[in-house]
Amino acid sequence: MISIPVAAPSRSYEVLIGSGLLACSGECLGKILENRRAFVVTVPPVRRCWSKVFLKSLTAAGIETTLLEMPDGESAKRLATLEQLAEKLVKQGADRNATLIALGGGVVGDVTGFLASIYMRGIDVIQVPTTVLAQVDAAIGGKTGVNLVSGKNLLGTFHQPRAVLVDPAVLATLPAREYRAGLYESLKCGIIGDTGLFKLFEDKRREILDRDPAVVEKVIADSVRLKASVVSADEREGGLRQVLNLGHTIGHALEAETRYTRLLHGEAVAWGMIAATHIALSTGKLDSVTAGRITNAVLGFGKLPKMKVQTANIVKRLRSDKKTRRGVVHFILPREIGKVEITSDVPEEMIRAAVDEIRKLARN
Ligand SMILES: NC(=O)c1ccc[n+]([C@@H]2O[C@H](COP(=O)([O-])OP(=O)(O)OC[C@H]3O[C@@H](n4cnc5c(N)ncnc54)[C@H](O)[C@@H]3O)[C@@H](O)[C@H]2O)c1
Ligand SMILES: [Zn+2]
Repeated sequence: MISIPVAAPSRSYEVLIGSGLLACSGECLGKILENRRAFVVTVPPVRRCWSKVFLKSLTAAGIETTLLEMPDGESAKRLATLEQLAEKLVKQGADRNATLIALGGGVVGDVTGFLASIYMRGIDVIQVPTTVLAQVDAAIGGKTGVNLVSGKNLLGTFHQPRAVLVDPAVLATLPAREYRAGLYESLKCGIIGDTGLFKLFEDKRREILDRDPAVVEKVIADSVRLKASVVSADEREGGLRQVLNLGHTIGHALEAETRYTRLLHGEAVAWGMIAATHIALSTGKLDSVTAGRITNAVLGFGKLPKMKVQTANIVKRLRSDKKTRRGVVHFILPREIGKVEITSDVPEEMIRAAVDEIRKLARN
């Protein structure tokens, strides 16, 4: 088992990573859950595949465990779901000593984390992420939230978990498209700050796509290490944490412009990383060989979904993004493999050219 510390100012905790860890969760979480009731929040697809082994282990360790289900999908990430779960908690007698456990992807993690942060003014949460995206990103760092009709993640809190338990073996049942989409976030970690991880994606692409357990565990652990170090240095996205948004400036605009129906989040980030690489190349801050390596690594996972977008509409959306500060668009640009910079002075012409470039690639 690998243990990676997260030292956020508001709380320190461990991310435990190991293939088959779900079956040992009782032992791993026993100390944290001592004399506490555990309420496991999950969704039907995850319950069917993984709740039995997880609950069996917790129960065997003497932990009183109750399973709560919420509807699946991004559309369930809203306040109404929180309220329904909270009513169930009250009915089941959950008090301030109860601990919530999020067993699922980023949606379950965000909803459960948010609920834990406000139920009886705040109770503990443990994250047990079951998608690549949640294992390398959403479960670590304490961001929680739900969507409004007006926009994504507009309500939320910071609430660090007591622990994060990552079992890469659960990825075996993840639909192929979800699996691949999560990998782009992991590749992002390599580009931001881990040359070894980036090389792993170059050298072991086949093994990663085939979900070779040993290689996948390494990819997940290295990505977690990167995210953990960034979050430890900057809990509330003051500055450094922004580097995690590589590919997200244009990615978010693409997701919104295609009405969240064409692209999974990771796929939008993949297009966004190609665009950011194009911009970095145009500014002369990135050499063409490295730009080619990044673009090839992204496209090497296979075809990304096609999309039809207008460049002008993307640029308009960039200006109104919630992360835009006073009309200034921030970009995270690669300088070399393992090094990025945050910049706010990219000329609009360069942005247009980068969007044109991905539009061209997206048509083929
Ligand atoms: N809090 C953060 O810091 C943070 C960071 C990134 C993303 N997010 C959020 O995460 C959400 C996306 O998360 P996601 O991509 O994990 O999507 P998701 O939670 O919707 O999961 C994707 C699908 O996979 C299914 N699934 C999950 N694990 C499975 C498994 N092991 N086997 C079979 N099926 C499984 C789910 O039921 C779902 O249908 C978004 O709402 C996004 O805003 C949060
Ligand atoms: Zn992301």
